[in-house]
Amino acid sequence: MPITLQPLTFCVFTFGCQMNKHDSERVAGMLEALGALAVEAVEDADVVIYLTCCVREAADTRLYGHVSSLKNTPLREGSPVSKRIIAIGGCIGQRDGEELIEKLSHVDVVFGTHNIGSLPALIAAARDDGKHHVEVLDESSSFSSDLPTDREQPWAAWLPITIGCNNFCTYCIVPYVRGREKSRPLDEIVAEAQRYVDAGVKEITLLGQNVNSYGRDLYGQPQFASVLRRVSDTGIERIRFATSHPKDLTDEVIGLFGTMPNLMPALHLPVQSGSNRILQAMNRRYTREHYLGLIEKLRAANPDIALSTDVIVGFPGETEQDFEDTLRLVQDVGYHQVFTFIYSKRAGTPAAEMVDDTPREVIQERFERLVDVVQEQAYLANQSERGRVVDVLIEGTSKRDANKLVGKSPKNQTVHAPLPDGLAAEELLGRIVPIEITEAKTWYLGGTLCQ
Ligand code: SAH
Ligand code: SF4
Ligand code: F3S
Repeated sequence: MPITLQPLTFCVFTFGCQMNKHDSERVAGMLEALGALAVEAVEDADVVIYLTCCVREAADTRLYGHVSSLKNTPLREGSPVSKRIIAIGGCIGQRDGEELIEKLSHVDVVFGTHNIGSLPALIAAARDDGKHHVEVLDESSSFSSDLPTDREQPWAAWLPITIGCNNFCTYCIVPYVRGREKSRPLDEIVAEAQRYVDAGVKEITLLGQNVNSYGRDLYGQPQFASVLRRVSDTGIERIRFATSHPKDLTDEVIGLFGTMPNLMPALHLPVQSGSNRILQAMNRRYTREHYLGLIEKLRAANPDIALSTDVIVGFPGETEQDFEDTLRLVQDVGYHQVFTFIYSKRAGTPAAEMVDDTPREVIQERFERLVDVVQEQAYLANQSERGRVVDVLIEGTSKRDANKLVGKSPKNQTVHAPLPDGLAAEELLGRIVPIEITEAKTWYLGGTLCQ
Protein backbone atom coordinates (compact mmCIF):
# COMPACT_ATOMS: atom_id res chain seq x y z
CA MET A 1 0.00 0.00 0.00
CA PRO A 2 1.34 3.48 -0.80
CA ILE A 3 2.19 5.54 2.26
CA THR A 4 0.03 8.43 3.29
CA LEU A 5 1.17 10.98 5.81
CA GLN A 6 -2.12 12.83 6.01
CA PRO A 7 -3.05 14.60 8.33
CA LEU A 8 0.44 14.99 9.85
CA THR A 9 2.03 18.41 10.07
CA PHE A 10 5.81 18.84 9.91
CA CYS A 11 8.59 21.37 10.11
CA VAL A 12 12.18 21.05 8.96
CA PHE A 13 15.20 22.65 10.59
CA THR A 14 18.26 22.91 8.42
CA PHE A 15 21.80 23.47 9.62
CA GLY A 16 24.97 23.49 7.55
CA CYS A 17 25.74 24.07 3.92
CA GLN A 18 23.70 24.40 0.73
CA MET A 19 23.73 20.63 0.28
CA ASN A 20 21.56 20.37 3.37
CA LYS A 21 19.38 23.30 2.34
CA HIS A 22 18.84 21.57 -0.94
CA ASP A 23 18.08 18.27 0.80
CA SER A 24 15.56 20.02 3.03
CA GLU A 25 13.66 21.28 -0.01
CA ARG A 26 13.46 17.66 -1.20
CA VAL A 27 12.29 16.48 2.22
CA ALA A 28 9.51 19.08 2.26
CA GLY A 29 8.54 18.22 -1.32
CA MET A 30 8.37 14.49 -0.59
CA LEU A 31 6.32 14.81 2.58
CA GLU A 32 3.90 17.24 0.98
CA ALA A 33 3.46 14.90 -1.97
CA LEU A 34 2.27 12.26 0.56
CA GLY A 35 -0.28 14.56 2.15
CA ALA A 36 1.63 16.06 5.09
CA LEU A 37 1.34 19.77 5.73
CA ALA A 38 4.37 22.04 6.24
CA VAL A 39 4.17 24.40 9.23
CA GLU A 40 6.57 27.03 10.50
CA ALA A 41 6.51 26.53 14.27
CA VAL A 42 7.45 23.41 16.28
CA GLU A 43 4.35 23.96 18.43
CA ASP A 44 2.21 23.19 15.37
CA ALA A 45 4.28 20.26 14.12
CA ASP A 46 3.53 16.57 14.71
CA VAL A 47 6.85 15.70 13.07
CA VAL A 48 10.08 17.66 13.47
CA ILE A 49 12.92 16.91 11.09
CA TYR A 50 16.51 18.06 11.45
CA LEU A 51 19.00 18.16 8.64
CA THR A 52 22.19 18.44 10.59
CA CYS A 53 25.79 19.53 10.10
CA CYS A 54 28.94 18.37 11.91
CA VAL A 55 31.61 20.35 10.10
CA ARG A 56 32.50 22.18 13.34
CA GLU A 57 31.75 21.44 16.96
CA ALA A 58 29.38 24.41 17.28
CA ALA A 59 27.03 22.82 14.74
CA ASP A 60 26.94 19.59 16.76
CA THR A 61 26.18 21.38 20.02
CA ARG A 62 23.40 23.39 18.45
CA LEU A 63 21.51 20.25 17.48
CA TYR A 64 21.63 18.77 20.98
CA GLY A 65 20.31 21.98 22.54
CA HIS A 66 17.51 22.24 20.00
CA VAL A 67 16.34 18.65 20.21
CA SER A 68 16.47 18.58 24.01
CA SER A 69 14.24 21.66 24.21
CA LEU A 70 11.56 19.83 22.21
CA LYS A 71 10.83 17.57 25.17
CA ASN A 72 9.01 20.42 26.88
CA THR A 73 7.00 21.54 23.86
CA PRO A 74 3.43 20.20 24.02
CA LEU A 75 1.72 18.75 20.96
CA ARG A 76 -0.84 20.84 19.08
CA GLU A 77 -4.49 20.36 19.90
CA GLY A 78 -6.00 17.56 17.83
CA SER A 79 -2.63 16.08 16.85
CA PRO A 80 -3.05 12.58 15.35
CA VAL A 81 0.07 11.32 17.17
CA SER A 82 0.45 10.70 20.89
CA LYS A 83 4.10 11.75 20.89
CA ARG A 84 5.83 14.20 18.54
CA ILE A 85 7.95 12.31 16.01
CA ILE A 86 11.54 13.56 15.89
CA ALA A 87 13.69 12.64 12.89
CA ILE A 88 17.38 13.45 12.57
CA GLY A 89 19.13 13.26 9.23
CA GLY A 90 21.96 14.96 7.41
CA CYS A 91 25.61 14.72 8.36
CA ILE A 92 25.23 13.94 12.09
CA GLY A 93 22.69 11.25 11.26
CA GLN A 94 25.18 9.75 8.82
CA ARG A 95 28.07 9.97 11.29
CA ASP A 96 26.34 8.75 14.47
CA GLY A 97 23.47 6.51 13.30
CA GLU A 98 22.14 4.35 16.13
CA GLU A 99 24.28 6.22 18.70
CA LEU A 100 22.04 9.25 18.39
CA ILE A 101 19.16 7.32 19.91
CA GLU A 102 21.40 6.35 22.81
CA LYS A 103 22.27 10.01 23.39
CA LEU A 104 18.81 11.43 22.69
CA SER A 105 16.29 8.78 23.66
CA HIS A 106 13.24 10.76 22.51
CA VAL A 107 14.47 10.75 18.91
CA ASP A 108 12.38 8.37 16.76
CA VAL A 109 13.98 8.31 13.33
CA VAL A 110 17.59 8.58 12.19
CA PHE A 111 18.53 8.71 8.52
CA GLY A 112 21.74 9.58 6.69
CA THR A 113 22.90 11.70 3.78
CA HIS A 114 22.48 8.88 1.26
CA ASN A 115 18.85 7.96 1.85
CA ILE A 116 16.61 10.98 2.32
CA GLY A 117 14.22 9.17 -0.02
CA SER A 118 13.53 6.66 2.80
CA LEU A 119 12.33 9.32 5.21
CA PRO A 120 8.56 9.08 4.52
CA ALA A 121 8.60 5.32 5.13
CA LEU A 122 10.64 5.74 8.32
CA ILE A 123 8.24 8.40 9.64
CA ALA A 124 5.22 6.26 8.76
CA ALA A 125 6.76 3.27 10.53
CA ALA A 126 7.50 5.31 13.68
CA ARG A 127 3.95 6.67 13.63
CA ASP A 128 2.47 3.19 13.27
CA ASP A 129 4.55 1.22 15.77
CA GLY A 130 5.97 3.93 18.09
CA LYS A 131 9.44 2.36 17.83
CA HIS A 132 12.83 3.74 16.80
CA HIS A 133 13.74 3.47 13.14
CA VAL A 134 17.34 3.96 12.04
CA GLU A 135 18.53 3.64 8.45
CA VAL A 136 21.97 4.83 7.42
CA LEU A 137 23.57 3.65 4.17
CA ASP A 138 27.23 3.67 3.17
CA GLU A 139 26.70 4.95 -0.31
CA SER A 140 24.07 6.64 -2.47
CA SER A 141 22.41 4.82 -5.27
CA SER A 142 20.82 7.97 -6.69
CA PHE A 143 20.73 11.74 -6.47
CA SER A 144 18.15 13.29 -4.19
CA SER A 145 17.32 15.63 -7.05
CA ASP A 146 15.12 12.95 -8.53
CA LEU A 147 12.72 13.52 -5.63
CA PRO A 148 9.93 16.08 -5.62
CA THR A 149 10.94 19.50 -4.39
CA ASP A 150 9.43 22.43 -2.55
CA ARG A 151 11.80 25.28 -3.33
CA GLU A 152 12.31 28.01 -0.76
CA GLN A 153 12.25 30.67 -3.47
CA PRO A 154 10.40 30.09 -6.74
CA TRP A 155 12.89 32.17 -8.74
CA ALA A 156 16.17 30.68 -7.50
CA ALA A 157 17.21 27.03 -7.56
CA TRP A 158 20.10 24.99 -6.28
CA LEU A 159 21.17 22.29 -8.65
CA PRO A 160 23.58 19.63 -7.35
CA ILE A 161 26.02 18.44 -10.00
CA THR A 162 28.20 16.33 -7.73
CA ILE A 163 27.76 14.82 -4.30
CA GLY A 164 30.50 13.75 -1.91
CA CYS A 165 34.14 14.71 -1.86
CA ASN A 166 37.43 12.95 -2.63
CA ASN A 167 39.80 15.57 -1.31
CA PHE A 168 40.26 14.60 2.33
CA CYS A 169 41.54 17.94 3.58
CA THR A 170 43.01 16.80 6.90
CA TYR A 171 40.68 18.92 9.09
CA CYS A 172 37.44 18.04 7.30
CA ILE A 173 34.69 15.56 8.15
CA VAL A 174 32.72 16.06 4.91
CA PRO A 175 34.24 13.15 2.90
CA TYR A 176 33.35 10.80 5.77
CA VAL A 177 29.72 11.89 6.02
CA ARG A 178 28.95 12.62 2.36
CA GLY A 179 30.96 9.79 0.81
CA ARG A 180 33.05 9.69 -2.35
CA GLU A 181 32.47 12.18 -5.14
CA LYS A 182 29.82 11.21 -7.68
CA SER A 183 28.94 13.30 -10.70
CA ARG A 184 25.50 13.57 -12.12
CA PRO A 185 25.17 12.88 -15.86
CA LEU A 186 25.41 16.10 -17.86
CA ASP A 187 22.14 15.53 -19.74
CA GLU A 188 20.28 15.14 -16.46
CA ILE A 189 21.71 18.42 -15.16
CA VAL A 190 20.77 20.23 -18.34
CA ALA A 191 17.25 18.76 -18.30
CA GLU A 192 16.72 19.93 -14.74
CA ALA A 193 18.10 23.39 -15.56
CA GLN A 194 15.76 23.59 -18.56
CA ARG A 195 12.77 22.68 -16.38
CA TYR A 196 13.71 25.51 -14.02
CA VAL A 197 14.04 28.00 -16.87
CA ASP A 198 10.65 26.93 -18.23
CA ALA A 199 9.16 27.41 -14.76
CA GLY A 200 10.43 31.00 -14.59
CA VAL A 201 13.50 30.48 -12.40
CA LYS A 202 16.00 33.36 -12.79
CA GLU A 203 19.04 32.07 -10.98
CA ILE A 204 20.60 28.61 -10.79
CA THR A 205 23.44 27.78 -8.38
CA LEU A 206 25.35 24.66 -9.37
CA LEU A 207 26.36 22.79 -6.25
CA GLY A 208 29.10 20.41 -5.23
CA GLN A 209 31.82 20.21 -2.57
CA ASN A 210 34.24 20.78 -5.44
CA VAL A 211 32.42 21.51 -8.69
CA ASN A 212 35.74 21.83 -10.53
CA SER A 213 36.40 18.12 -10.36
CA TYR A 214 33.03 17.36 -12.00
CA GLY A 215 32.94 14.51 -14.49
CA ARG A 216 36.08 12.56 -13.63
CA ASP A 217 33.94 9.53 -12.78
CA LEU A 218 31.73 9.77 -15.89
CA TYR A 219 32.12 8.19 -19.32
CA GLY A 220 33.97 10.61 -21.64
CA GLN A 221 34.94 12.72 -18.62
CA PRO A 222 32.93 15.86 -19.39
CA GLN A 223 34.44 18.88 -17.64
CA PHE A 224 32.88 21.52 -15.45
CA ALA A 225 33.33 24.14 -18.18
CA SER A 226 30.98 22.05 -20.38
CA VAL A 227 28.39 22.02 -17.60
CA LEU A 228 28.57 25.80 -17.43
CA ARG A 229 28.22 26.15 -21.20
CA ARG A 230 25.29 23.76 -21.46
CA VAL A 231 23.45 25.30 -18.51
CA SER A 232 24.12 28.77 -19.90
CA ASP A 233 22.58 27.70 -23.22
CA THR A 234 19.25 26.98 -21.51
CA GLY A 235 18.77 30.76 -21.40
CA ILE A 236 18.88 31.00 -17.59
CA GLU A 237 19.47 34.63 -16.57
CA ARG A 238 21.97 34.02 -13.77
CA ILE A 239 24.38 31.18 -13.06
CA ARG A 240 26.47 30.77 -9.92
CA PHE A 241 28.40 27.82 -8.55
CA ALA A 242 29.84 26.64 -5.25
CA THR A 243 32.27 25.44 -4.11
CA SER A 244 35.54 25.55 -6.03
CA HIS A 245 38.75 23.92 -4.95
CA PRO A 246 41.70 26.06 -6.11
CA LYS A 247 43.71 23.01 -7.19
CA ASP A 248 41.09 22.13 -9.82
CA LEU A 249 40.00 25.54 -11.13
CA THR A 250 40.88 25.47 -14.84
CA ASP A 251 41.88 28.31 -17.16
CA GLU A 252 38.84 27.45 -19.24
CA VAL A 253 36.44 28.11 -16.37
CA ILE A 254 38.35 31.27 -15.42
CA GLY A 255 38.01 32.48 -19.01
CA LEU A 256 34.22 32.09 -18.88
CA PHE A 257 34.05 34.88 -16.28
CA GLY A 258 35.06 37.19 -19.14
CA THR A 259 32.90 35.74 -21.89
CA MET A 260 29.70 34.24 -20.49
CA PRO A 261 27.25 37.06 -19.73
CA ASN A 262 24.94 34.99 -17.52
CA LEU A 263 27.80 33.68 -15.37
CA MET A 264 27.65 36.08 -12.42
CA PRO A 265 30.90 37.94 -11.64
CA ALA A 266 31.36 36.39 -8.20
CA LEU A 267 33.53 33.47 -7.16
CA HIS A 268 33.94 31.74 -3.81
CA LEU A 269 37.45 30.31 -3.78
CA PRO A 270 38.34 28.95 -0.32
CA VAL A 271 42.01 29.49 0.47
CA GLN A 272 41.95 28.19 4.11
CA SER A 273 45.46 29.49 4.84
CA GLY A 274 48.12 31.73 3.31
CA SER A 275 51.01 29.66 4.64
CA ASN A 276 52.49 26.96 2.41
CA ARG A 277 53.49 24.93 5.45
CA ILE A 278 49.92 24.89 6.76
CA LEU A 279 48.40 24.34 3.31
CA GLN A 280 50.54 21.24 3.03
CA ALA A 281 49.54 20.00 6.50
CA MET A 282 45.92 20.58 5.45
CA ASN A 283 46.48 18.45 2.32
CA ARG A 284 45.11 21.25 0.15
CA ARG A 285 47.54 20.44 -2.68
CA TYR A 286 48.20 24.00 -3.88
CA THR A 287 50.57 26.72 -2.77
CA ARG A 288 49.99 30.33 -1.86
CA GLU A 289 51.72 31.27 -5.14
CA HIS A 290 49.41 29.07 -7.19
CA TYR A 291 46.36 30.56 -5.47
CA LEU A 292 47.53 34.14 -6.06
CA GLY A 293 48.19 33.21 -9.69
CA LEU A 294 44.55 32.13 -10.02
CA ILE A 295 43.39 35.45 -8.57
CA GLU A 296 45.50 37.28 -11.11
CA LYS A 297 44.01 35.27 -13.98
CA LEU A 298 40.48 35.79 -12.68
CA ARG A 299 41.00 39.55 -12.53
CA ALA A 300 42.48 39.49 -16.02
CA ALA A 301 39.36 37.68 -17.27
CA ASN A 302 37.03 40.06 -15.42
CA PRO A 303 38.58 43.02 -13.55
CA ASP A 304 35.32 43.58 -11.68
CA ILE A 305 34.91 40.05 -10.28
CA ALA A 306 33.90 39.80 -6.59
CA LEU A 307 35.95 37.25 -4.69
CA SER A 308 35.12 35.52 -1.45
CA THR A 309 36.89 32.85 0.54
CA ASP A 310 37.01 30.66 3.66
CA VAL A 311 39.85 30.88 6.18
CA ILE A 312 40.60 28.59 9.11
CA VAL A 313 42.47 30.14 12.03
CA GLY A 314 44.35 27.99 14.53
CA PHE A 315 44.97 24.83 12.50
CA PRO A 316 47.25 22.53 14.60
CA GLY A 317 50.78 23.94 14.65
CA GLU A 318 49.88 27.33 13.15
CA THR A 319 52.59 29.81 14.19
CA GLU A 320 52.40 33.60 14.32
CA GLN A 321 54.37 33.65 11.06
CA ASP A 322 51.87 31.27 9.38
CA PHE A 323 49.02 33.44 10.54
CA GLU A 324 50.68 36.60 9.28
CA ASP A 325 51.09 34.93 5.89
CA THR A 326 47.32 34.37 5.88
CA LEU A 327 46.61 37.93 6.94
CA ARG A 328 48.87 39.28 4.23
CA LEU A 329 47.21 37.11 1.59
CA VAL A 330 43.76 38.30 2.64
CA GLN A 331 44.97 41.89 2.47
CA ASP A 332 46.61 41.41 -0.91
CA VAL A 333 43.59 39.79 -2.56
CA GLY A 334 40.99 42.31 -1.33
CA TYR A 335 38.00 40.00 -0.85
CA HIS A 336 34.37 41.10 -0.87
CA GLN A 337 33.67 38.55 1.82
CA VAL A 338 35.70 36.15 3.95
CA PHE A 339 34.08 33.41 6.02
CA THR A 340 36.34 33.00 9.04
CA PHE A 341 36.42 29.85 11.15
CA ILE A 342 38.35 28.82 14.21
CA TYR A 343 39.74 25.32 13.70
CA SER A 344 37.51 22.72 15.29
CA LYS A 345 38.87 19.25 15.96
CA ARG A 346 36.78 16.53 14.27
CA ALA A 347 37.26 12.99 15.54
CA GLY A 348 38.37 10.59 12.83
CA THR A 349 40.15 13.17 10.67
CA PRO A 350 43.97 13.18 10.33
CA ALA A 351 44.30 16.67 11.85
CA ALA A 352 42.67 15.44 15.05
CA GLU A 353 45.86 13.40 15.65
CA MET A 354 48.23 16.35 15.10
CA VAL A 355 49.91 18.22 17.97
CA ASP A 356 47.63 21.14 18.75
CA ASP A 357 49.21 23.26 21.46
CA THR A 358 48.50 26.87 20.49
CA PRO A 359 46.76 28.49 23.46
CA ARG A 360 43.07 29.29 22.97
CA GLU A 361 43.62 33.00 23.70
CA VAL A 362 46.29 33.25 21.02
CA ILE A 363 43.93 31.74 18.45
CA GLN A 364 41.10 34.01 19.54
CA GLU A 365 43.34 37.05 19.22
CA ARG A 366 44.43 36.00 15.71
CA PHE A 367 40.81 35.44 14.77
CA GLU A 368 39.88 38.95 15.87
CA ARG A 369 42.78 40.49 13.95
CA LEU A 370 41.61 38.66 10.85
CA VAL A 371 37.99 39.73 11.31
CA ASP A 372 39.09 43.39 11.52
CA VAL A 373 40.91 43.11 8.20
CA VAL A 374 37.98 41.27 6.61
CA GLN A 375 35.50 43.97 7.61
CA GLU A 376 37.76 46.76 6.43
CA GLN A 377 38.14 45.05 3.06
CA ALA A 378 34.46 44.27 2.63
CA TYR A 379 33.72 47.95 3.23
CA LEU A 380 36.34 49.07 0.74
CA ALA A 381 35.25 46.55 -1.89
CA ASN A 382 31.69 47.84 -1.76
CA GLN A 383 32.67 51.49 -2.23
CA SER A 384 33.24 51.06 -5.97
CA GLU A 385 29.52 50.36 -6.40
CA ARG A 386 28.48 53.88 -5.43
CA GLY A 387 26.89 55.72 -8.32
CA ARG A 388 26.59 52.56 -10.42
CA VAL A 389 23.33 51.10 -11.66
CA VAL A 390 23.21 47.46 -10.62
CA ASP A 391 20.78 44.71 -11.70
CA VAL A 392 19.15 43.34 -8.58
CA LEU A 393 17.12 40.15 -8.23
CA ILE A 394 14.39 41.13 -5.75
CA GLU A 395 13.97 38.44 -3.10
CA GLY A 396 11.60 40.10 -0.64
CA THR A 397 11.25 42.95 1.78
CA SER A 398 13.21 43.73 4.92
CA LYS A 399 12.05 41.94 8.08
CA ARG A 400 12.09 45.25 9.91
CA ASP A 401 10.55 47.41 7.18
CA ALA A 402 7.96 46.08 4.74
CA ASN A 403 8.55 49.12 2.52
CA LYS A 404 12.19 48.24 1.93
CA LEU A 405 13.01 45.89 -0.94
CA VAL A 406 15.86 43.41 -0.49
CA GLY A 407 17.66 41.64 -3.29
CA LYS A 408 20.95 40.37 -4.67
CA SER A 409 23.36 42.07 -7.06
CA PRO A 410 25.29 40.11 -9.70
CA LYS A 411 28.23 40.08 -7.27
CA ASN A 412 25.91 38.55 -4.66
CA GLN A 413 25.85 41.68 -2.52
CA THR A 414 22.68 42.33 -0.54
CA VAL A 415 20.96 45.45 -1.87
CA HIS A 416 18.26 47.49 -0.13
CA ALA A 417 15.96 50.01 -1.83
CA PRO A 418 12.78 51.77 -0.73
CA LEU A 419 9.63 50.39 -2.35
CA PRO A 420 8.50 53.13 -4.77
CA ASP A 421 5.06 54.69 -4.16
CA GLY A 422 2.25 52.98 -6.00
CA LEU A 423 4.08 49.64 -6.37
CA ALA A 424 3.36 46.49 -4.39
CA ALA A 425 6.38 44.42 -3.34
CA GLU A 426 4.70 41.29 -4.76
CA GLU A 427 4.88 42.76 -8.26
CA LEU A 428 8.66 42.95 -8.00
CA LEU A 429 9.40 39.63 -6.27
CA GLY A 430 11.64 37.44 -8.40
CA ARG A 431 12.22 40.20 -10.97
CA ILE A 432 15.61 41.59 -11.91
CA VAL A 433 15.44 45.38 -11.71
CA PRO A 434 17.99 48.21 -12.06
CA ILE A 435 18.92 49.99 -8.81
CA GLU A 436 21.16 53.03 -8.57
CA ILE A 437 23.53 52.56 -5.64
CA THR A 438 23.79 55.55 -3.32
CA GLU A 439 25.07 53.91 -0.15
CA ALA A 440 27.82 51.31 0.36
CA LYS A 441 28.18 49.72 3.80
CA THR A 442 30.27 46.75 4.94
CA TRP A 443 27.59 44.10 4.49
CA TYR A 444 25.05 45.72 2.15
CA LEU A 445 24.40 48.35 -0.49
CA GLY A 446 21.55 50.84 -0.55
CA GLY A 447 19.98 52.55 -3.53
CA THR A 448 16.88 53.58 -5.40
CA LEU A 449 14.95 51.74 -8.05
CA CYS A 450 15.41 53.26 -11.51
CA GLN A 451 11.97 53.85 -13.00
N1 SAH B 1 33.75 21.80 0.05
C1 SAH B 1 33.85 23.13 0.43
C2 SAH B 1 33.32 23.50 1.79
C3 SAH B 1 33.42 22.57 2.90
S1 SAH B 1 32.99 23.04 4.52
C4 SAH B 1 35.26 23.56 0.22
O1 SAH B 1 36.16 22.77 0.19
O2 SAH B 1 35.46 24.73 0.07
C5 SAH B 1 33.04 24.78 4.52
C6 SAH B 1 34.21 25.40 5.23
O3 SAH B 1 34.24 25.00 6.57
C7 SAH B 1 35.56 24.99 4.70
O4 SAH B 1 35.92 25.70 3.57
C8 SAH B 1 36.47 25.28 5.87
O5 SAH B 1 36.94 26.62 5.83
C9 SAH B 1 35.55 25.13 7.07
N2 SAH B 1 35.88 23.94 7.83
C10 SAH B 1 35.81 22.65 7.45
N3 SAH B 1 36.21 21.83 8.43
C11 SAH B 1 36.56 22.62 9.48
C12 SAH B 1 37.07 22.38 10.79
N4 SAH B 1 37.32 21.15 11.22
N5 SAH B 1 37.28 23.44 11.60
C13 SAH B 1 37.04 24.70 11.17
N6 SAH B 1 36.58 24.98 9.95
C14 SAH B 1 36.34 23.96 9.11
FE1 SF4 C 1 36.18 19.26 3.06
FE2 SF4 C 1 38.30 19.71 1.57
FE3 SF4 C 1 36.28 18.29 0.58
FE4 SF4 C 1 35.95 20.88 0.99
S1 SF4 C 1 37.40 19.94 -0.47
S2 SF4 C 1 34.55 19.28 1.56
S3 SF4 C 1 37.18 21.27 2.81
S4 SF4 C 1 37.61 17.70 2.26
FE1 F3S D 1 27.95 20.48 7.27
FE2 F3S D 1 27.50 18.26 6.06
FE3 F3S D 1 27.54 20.49 4.70
S1 F3S D 1 28.94 18.52 7.69
S2 F3S D 1 28.99 21.73 5.82
S3 F3S D 1 26.09 19.97 6.24
S4 F3S D 1 28.27 18.53 3.98
